[in-house]
Amino acid sequence: MTRLFTPIQLRGVTARNRIMMSPMSQARADEQGVAQMWHAVHYGSRAVGGVGLLLMEDTAISEAGRLNQHSLGMYDDAHVAALRHIVEFCRGQGACVGAQLGHAGPKAWSKTEGQGPLRPVSPSGRLFAEGWVLPSVLTVEEIASVLDQWRAAARRAVAASYDFVEVHAGHGYLINAFLSPLTNARDDAYGRDRTRLLFESVAAVREVIPLEMPVFVRLSVEDLVPGGWTLADTQRLAGRLREAGVDALDLSWGGIGPTQGPLTLEERRNATRRVREAARLPVVAVGLVESAQGAEAILGEGTADIVAIGRLLLRNPYWALDAAEALAGDLPLAVTSPYGIGAR
Ligand SMILES: Cc1cc2nc3c(=O)[nH]c(=O)nc-3n(C[C@H](O)[C@H](O)[C@H](O)COP(=O)(O)O)c2cc1C
Repeated sequence: MTRLFTPIQLRGVTARNRIMMSPMSQARADEQGVAQMWHAVHYGSRAVGGVGLLLMEDTAISEAGRLNQHSLGMYDDAHVAALRHIVEFCRGQGACVGAQLGHAGPKAWSKTEGQGPLRPVSPSGRLFAEGWVLPSVLTVEEIASVLDQWRAAARRAVAASYDFVEVHAGHGYLINAFLSPLTNARDDAYGRDRTRLLFESVAAVREVIPLEMPVFVRLSVEDLVPGGWTLADTQRLAGRLREAGVDALDLSWGGIGPTQGPLTLEERRNATRRVREAARLPVVAVGLVESAQGAEAILGEGTADIVAIGRLLLRNPYWALDAAEALAGDLPLAVTSPYGIGAR
């Protein structure tokens, strides 16, 4: 048995293998944020294609948190039915399906003047980049409303029958903007402890979902901008997230500003391993995989427990089936032939 195809259990959920479809925004919801046929075909084919965990794209907890006018939403009960249909189909194909819940904060849809229905929000009103709209500063009362939105969105994810949820705390979005010293200059409790919004958001989600449902957190391990959030900050945070009831860390990079420093694959791999050691939690390696053998090596060397596959799965929905053949000479067919023709 290869490591990649060894099942993994997180709380009450067991994934058939350690390949996770990385969340990738499709920008194909309707203007109200409702999932379309596109999503059914896109996610359905990756589930048929054998991924163990299928983490659907960034799905907004509020209208103000949408990335663009075609982002998926989880901020209205009207979003649930279409998502549930897709989730149940994908689970029927053997995948564990996750909702990535997010709030784009200062990077929301209204990013440039004249776009979007709502002004973007942020910890301290810092402009993301030249030409973007100056975001408003969230008051403590408004933060309490955002926490209610996390609760309501997580409840809807349960209603849509997802197997797990992920709190998006990376890529310069709202929670990341609170974490980073570059974007959070508040002098209240949310500035004295820049991790506070993250922990309150995780607690809000945990509060309303079943005990057996895993919670993942996607972090930007480093801002890759001088004076920003660092690997040491992520290492310090990691164990505290375990204590807060988080079940896996999904480790990405950057996004706090329009430009960022370089990062080699080797540096990403080493940093992922160090966060895993600090967290003592399952970790998802992101952006490190170029082949099935590479994925197997990342698991074998103890860098991570799950590998996220992004663009390779955009090119080939059946990447997991091909990986099974590459690693084990086993080519399962997605469909059983009525003519008794088995795998090659
Ligand atoms: C089209 C596209 C959309 C993406 N959307 C999201 C998203 O919604 N949420 C997120 O956390 N990351 C998003 N990402 C980042 C991917 O999840 C992944 O981390 C990145 O592509 C690196 O992995 P890869 O090298 O396997 O593609 C997106 C990437 C792509 C290419």
